[in-house]
Amino acid sequence: MNGVLASEKLIKAREYENRKQKEIPQGQKPAFHVSAPIGWINDPNGFSLYKGEYHLFYQYHPYSTNWGPMHWGHSKTDDFIKWDQLPAAIAPDEEYDQQGCFSGSAVEHEGRHILMYTGVQDKVLEDGTKVSRQTQCIAAGDGYNYEKLSCNPVIQSWQLPEGSSAVDFRDPKIWKEGEVFYAVVGSRHEDNSGQIALFSSKDLKEWEFVSILERCNNQYGLMWECPDFFLLDGKYVLLTSPQEMRSEGLEFHNGNGTMYLIGNYDREQQDFSREGVGSIDYGLDFYAPQTVLTEDGRRVMIGWMQSWDNHMVPQGFEWSGMMTIPRELTIKNGRLCQNPVREIENYYQNPVTYKDIIADKPLELKGIRGRELDMTIDVEAGYYGCFRINLAHSEKYSTSICYDLSKNTLTFDRNYSGLKRDVIYQRSMYVKNQDGKIRIRILMDKYSVEVFVNDGEQAMTSIIHTPIESDRIVFGGEGNVKFHVTKNDVVVN
Ligand code: FRU
Repeated sequence: MNGVLASEKLIKAREYENRKQKEIPQGQKPAFHVSAPIGWINDPNGFSLYKGEYHLFYQYHPYSTNWGPMHWGHSKTDDFIKWDQLPAAIAPDEEYDQQGCFSGSAVEHEGRHILMYTGVQDKVLEDGTKVSRQTQCIAAGDGYNYEKLSCNPVIQSWQLPEGSSAVDFRDPKIWKEGEVFYAVVGSRHEDNSGQIALFSSKDLKEWEFVSILERCNNQYGLMWECPDFFLLDGKYVLLTSPQEMRSEGLEFHNGNGTMYLIGNYDREQQDFSREGVGSIDYGLDFYAPQTVLTEDGRRVMIGWMQSWDNHMVPQGFEWSGMMTIPRELTIKNGRLCQNPVREIENYYQNPVTYKDIIADKPLELKGIRGRELDMTIDVEAGYYGCFRINLAHSEKYSTSICYDLSKNTLTFDRNYSGLKRDVIYQRSMYVKNQDGKIRIRILMDKYSVEVFVNDGEQAMTSIIHTPIESDRIVFGGEGNVKFHVTKNDVVVN
């Protein structure tokens, strides 16, 4: 253990995952997306560069396919596509995190890998009332084993301004600027709405409250979970995952959503002023994204490819939860754009291209089928009713993506994808009207469909649980639709 003593809880988790992972049938897991080693995973945590490799941790309950006392699972990669599984990193083994090690982040400092997370503890107050308390804690390690600081917790809720909740105070995202560490933390005002608190520290142990960077004033959901804050293309971007959002037309949907805020940041006043907001992803399964700055200066985001609003595990599966493809972020025309990391192209095989295809009736194209692929379709401008792609298709199952030109909407529908218990199965988004011209990129990996429209201007991510043999792709449309398509299989050995 390299000098760090693992607790009994961590040893138990590591032994369990090591033994149980071997029982998962080969080929059941996604080919190039991070997925639960065993049991349950949610939010990505600690997405960071440490000693030249990218580490990703995640909320993890190894012992069942349901959420439970949170550990941190751990994987690493050097190209975002091929991942190595590492043993669980931390377990809820201290008084201050006995109810769970909730979400957080990581940074490299003086050769150590610093994890910052939320410790959750149930407490009994002097008058006998039971309360739950969330505090911010730190563990330091070598990329494999981590030790929690003896001065934990390092930030407590009493450090927040008056009127802030002591119950909802979580998900620190840490970064370093010069000699100073900063962290944004999700918080809730007593009016119930979300706010993001900024803290700073010179030594990781003592933290000072700096400002409330942004507040929702009850407009965008309740508690704001999992914040991230960074400079991108000359603007500042705040990401957050608000609970219980209300839909605004097709921009946000009811329930737990994600949101980006683009604006400026006044360093003197430590104040963020927003210029624009939007959904990060319009699909059924996307939550709690987090970013890392790569060695070559790209801002790369990864999200949990599931949602609190759907929980679907196929029968017999002993793992639940996947992450999205890591996505490169840019700002274009005031919008946050995202595209799969370019490293995916190193895994392309069997390219197939068709030009000038007319989709006035359902049609399949030789060489275009499969469940692990990257496909780009360019539909030409024209007068037509709609253009449709059916994926993971067979006589029994089908998942459709449909662009309706008259409404200017793109709709993802998994009503027939094979899930019997699915209550929410469809989502639509408005896309920019370009007289019917649209570029649709679809990334599929066994149980997931990630759609990127017009070079990443919008994304729509959803999982499907269609039997893997269902792998046909059918194009179709109403009216005179002309398109070009290029498909590559993504093969990761
Ligand atoms: C978001 C979240 C976080 C929390 C974690 C618990 O999905 O609710 O706010 O830290 O999950 O697993």
